Amino acid sequence: MASDFAAGEAQWRERLGRLRDVVRQELVTRRLRDHLPDRPSRRVLDVGCGQGTQALAAARRGHHVTGVDSSPVLLEDFTAALAAEPPEIRARVRLVQGDAARLAELFAPAGFDAVLCHGVLMYFADPAPVLDGIAALLAPDGIVSLLVRNAESLAMRPGLAGDWATAQRAFGDVTYRNRIGVTARADRLGELMAALAGRGLAVRAWYGVRVFTDHAPGDAPVPEPAELAALLACEERAGCTDPYRGVAPLVHLIADRD
Ligand SMILES: C[S@@+](CC[C@H](N)C(=O)[O-])C[C@H]1O[C@@H](n2cnc3c(N)ncnc32)[C@H](O)[C@@H]1O
Repeated sequence: MASDFAAGEAQWRERLGRLRDVVRQELVTRRLRDHLPDRPSRRVLDVGCGQGTQALAAARRGHHVTGVDSSPVLLEDFTAALAAEPPEIRARVRLVQGDAARLAELFAPAGFDAVLCHGVLMYFADPAPVLDGIAALLAPDGIVSLLVRNAESLAMRPGLAGDWATAQRAFGDVTYRNRIGVTARADRLGELMAALAGRGLAVRAWYGVRVFTDHAPGDAPVPEPAELAALLACEERAGCTDPYRGVAPLVHLIADRD
């Protein structure tokens, strides 16, 4: 497989359900509800679905979801989560083990009304094959939802941690060592928009994700419900407000056919 995520997989799994994961997932879920309403039921492909947080949320809302991932362990986690769902939701989900860089070999062209790819492109030194596949599989009136590491804010984490050498390097480099110990690649928004435009896709909206909570420790727990609700309200507001969204560590883009 063409990415290095596997080296950090155990750490990724340990952090699921912790504060940083919950904030990230909840913000993406909320924006997806806006751009992909519950009705009509759509055909959704989640590329690099992992444990299935967003795929499951979409299936619970009535969509027919295909999850594709290279990790047998994460697909097993997803299968275990599915087992706890009612039969009608289970029936709407299909899981495929496969490579995100070879989507066109796995699925028919234009076969999905929505293609999600969250937290995956950063693990590809060259994202072009993944983007090619996404564009090829998208139906004419479909939408794409991407969650990527924001290259414009790469100096924030090391800078706020007082790691000046890494912060200095981050101004000119799009590679970084992430919180699960993997060397990954961030995207510059303008370059990613141009790459999408080259595939006939126009970005209609973009949001910053985890503006305030990115610096929390990886094992920080989720606070009690009222505190979490207040935190999410601030995150949501910052995520669609300049200049805050521009320094978010993650950017959530929604694109469709130009
Ligand atoms: C950071 S996790 C994100 C999981 C999920 N999309 C989410 O947002 O919660 C990255 C996912 O990409 C998957 N992945 C990495 N390289 C891949 C590849 N070449 N083909 C398919 N999946 C890949 C990993 O197995 C993992 O599930």
